[in-house]
Amino acid sequence: MKGNELRQAYLQFFESKGHLKLDSYSLVPDNDPSLLLIGAGMAPLKPFFTGKLVPPRTRVTTCQKCIRTGDIENVGRTARHHTFFEMLGNFSFGDYFKKEAIHWAWEFLTEVIKLDKNRLYVTVYPDDHEAYDIWHKEVGLDDSHISRLEDNFWEIGEGPCGPDSEIFYDLGEERGCGEPDCAPGCDCDRYLEIWNLVFTQFNRTAEGEYVPLAKKNIDTGAGLERLASVLQNKESNFETDLIFPIIEKAAAMANVVYHSDASKDVSLKVIGDHARAIAVLISDGVLPSNEGRGYVLRRILRRAVRHGRLLGIEGRFLTDLMDVVVDILGPGLPGLVEKHDFITRVVANEEDRFNQTLAQGLEMLSNLISSLKADGADTVPGTDVFKLYDTYGFPWELTEEIAHEAGLAIEMEGFESAMAEQRARARAAREDVDAKVATPDITFLAKEELTDDESATESEVLMLGHGAECLESASDGTEVTLIVRTTPFHAEGGGQLGDSGFIVGPMGKMEVHTTRKLPEGTTYHVGTIVEGNLQVGDTVHFEVDTQRRLSMARNHTATHLLHAALKEVLGTHVNQAGSLVMPDRLRFDFTHFSPVTAEELQEITNLVNGEILKATTLDVKEMPMDEAKKLGAMALFGEKYGDVVRVVTVPEFSVELCGGSHVPNTAVIGQFRILSEGGIGSGVRRIEAVTGEAALKLAQKEQADLRSVATILKTKPEEVVTRAEHVMGEMKQLEHSLSEVRKELVAGSLDSVLQNGFEIKGGKAIVAEVNVADMDELRKTADMVRDRIGSGVVLLGMAHDGKVNFVCMATKDAVKAGYHAGNIVKATAQAAGGNGGGRPDMAQAGGKDAAKLAAALQAGKETIETMA
Ligand code: ALA
Repeated sequence: MKGNELRQAYLQFFESKGHLKLDSYSLVPDNDPSLLLIGAGMAPLKPFFTGKLVPPRTRVTTCQKCIRTGDIENVGRTARHHTFFEMLGNFSFGDYFKKEAIHWAWEFLTEVIKLDKNRLYVTVYPDDHEAYDIWHKEVGLDDSHISRLEDNFWEIGEGPCGPDSEIFYDLGEERGCGEPDCAPGCDCDRYLEIWNLVFTQFNRTAEGEYVPLAKKNIDTGAGLERLASVLQNKESNFETDLIFPIIEKAAAMANVVYHSDASKDVSLKVIGDHARAIAVLISDGVLPSNEGRGYVLRRILRRAVRHGRLLGIEGRFLTDLMDVVVDILGPGLPGLVEKHDFITRVVANEEDRFNQTLAQGLEMLSNLISSLKADGADTVPGTDVFKLYDTYGFPWELTEEIAHEAGLAIEMEGFESAMAEQRARARAAREDVDAKVATPDITFLAKEELTDDESATESEVLMLGHGAECLESASDGTEVTLIVRTTPFHAEGGGQLGDSGFIVGPMGKMEVHTTRKLPEGTTYHVGTIVEGNLQVGDTVHFEVDTQRRLSMARNHTATHLLHAALKEVLGTHVNQAGSLVMPDRLRFDFTHFSPVTAEELQEITNLVNGEILKATTLDVKEMPMDEAKKLGAMALFGEKYGDVVRVVTVPEFSVELCGGSHVPNTAVIGQFRILSEGGIGSGVRRIEAVTGEAALKLAQKEQADLRSVATILKTKPEEVVTRAEHVMGEMKQLEHSLSEVRKELVAGSLDSVLQNGFEIKGGKAIVAEVNVADMDELRKTADMVRDRIGSGVVLLGMAHDGKVNFVCMATKDAVKAGYHAGNIVKATAQAAGGNGGGRPDMAQAGGKDAAKLAAALQAGKETIETMA
């Protein structure tokens, strides 16, 4: 039985059991962020199992396209691993359960495709006595053909799951490992799992909980290629008619014979498998790129190309294999036939691109591996893995596989950090590119054919540039400038940033970072090809980031309102000196000679918001300049205007000449809030403000802050002000009491300070360290000590925060006797790594080294002793 007939037979059998046959769903999951690609028949049906969606019928059967890349490095090395395969399945959504699922599986296997009953074995989940009994008592399977296996539980991340029962086909003792405990579930080739019946009764949540489903379901999966290998009596899936024609063609191209050399067989199988995956991924809309699904495709394609090289094929070959793939799979997957041409073009492009650098990359890697091995190293450094990726387009998985074949590992950490650096560089470069972009000479374009039209959805690529160079086509990763016949993107101008978004062609897409105008008026787009490639002549469609544009429109109309309000509140001397309209805020510079007061800002804000609340419809018209002047349009000094100008009017409030984006009605602005006001040069002030969503976010942030403050102050938000006043008052009082207490403490310690005295000429000297909080207290303490001794010299020191301070005071008598406070303090401070000085009767100083405090005071004491 041919593979295509087997697919038919299965679907027809389940249709005869009341199932609705559905076409395979796309490999690209619809609305399921938990999956990159569909990897099982049930994956696209999850919402029917969980009850989120009502199924078109409670019994469904499909042959689903699947991709699994979990162990891609095994593909080609074993009989059964695949990236792409088709899964036959029958599903029950709260309809039949174990009994029917088991009986029908048996009936299909033994009566429709007539497998030998004696070669069939099953396993069940250890606790599942019900399934065991159905197999044993109802189907009549001998005990020796049923075993209980712990891992008979099936799940795929989040979603429906449950215990399962697997059906195996015995390929014969000669295919086995010969171990005495060899049985279904053994890793060897003897027992081939051909069908899995899952009794879906739980839903696994994102948190990993198993919640019982309201209704019990059935999900089964039988690999089409495996069943075909049994029916066609082939050693592996690769020899079935679903894959082998690809291998044969590749072998012919390489001039090798299948089954003559084990390593060549691996390469042929890799190509056989990967060619199918590539064709089907592209037919489902995936294009090569460095991200997500596009990266999966690129990785598979480049791995296949490399195996072509291992077989000695030079140049394109995968492209030519697409015909064979479409021949094989077309009958089951009509989408492939429809997209045949397109698939071939995409593969040709990517294959050529990789071919250009593959040989060099392989040579670099092989030299690197030899030298690493000679040095006794066991790991390829991450920076080299990155270089291979960046320069030669080697997916890191490919480098890993080649390194692995030579017995080396790769260092992922270094690779990832190099990738992160590159991303940061790319971001910086993008900002740079936004500043100034070179464009090619485009005098060859017929300017009169180029138009701007906000409603355009599709047009034709007329020019692709990279720097000053014109390109015929550009692949992903390339920074480009692009011109189309008619564009809906708004170019930068009048202070407003250019539009961004995507331009999507048949074989790839460009991310538009910004849109600009050349001096003569041609609009061009600046950005990066992020998927596949774009070519001159491509018909492209546009995805302008309209949310971003709307945010800019809000800020632009608000800028006009602000301009008018400023003139009204501050006076007619106010003139625009600069303006920047961004999606997240606006910036407006204007002439005015003093700061705008809080009251004026309030008045301006109220005026603008008043216009917003009036919900005035804007009037945007083109007219001759003279007419616009009559309307009193504000034209900006220094800007150039043509004969016909665009006038934007907010009736009864503002009239300006402007080419930018505006809201249809002032109410769309939502709200206007000033963030800041300040001077930026003589006579020029700047206001920054937000509108719409940004104003809402600002209010929300303030509200959240207020709540946090209330929580900290242990009160309700509406009582925060009273509470804050109260707390600040309390704090002042506490500070006052604290200083009183300290004073008393200091007074108490004066006695011990006074004991450090010694006699000097005509009085007493006190030299001591005191424990006070600051300079002020130190001076007060010195005052008190001086008063107590009546006549003499006081030198006090304190340590604070690792620094030291000194105060020295001398009474009048002492000064007369020859003592000099300034000189004493200077000598003291110098001994503590500092300096200072002052008057004869009073001086202070600081030092840097708190550890020297005692030594410094000692130096001070000696100075006093020798002074008079
Ligand atoms: N969902 C089950 C499997 O993929 C049938 O094995």
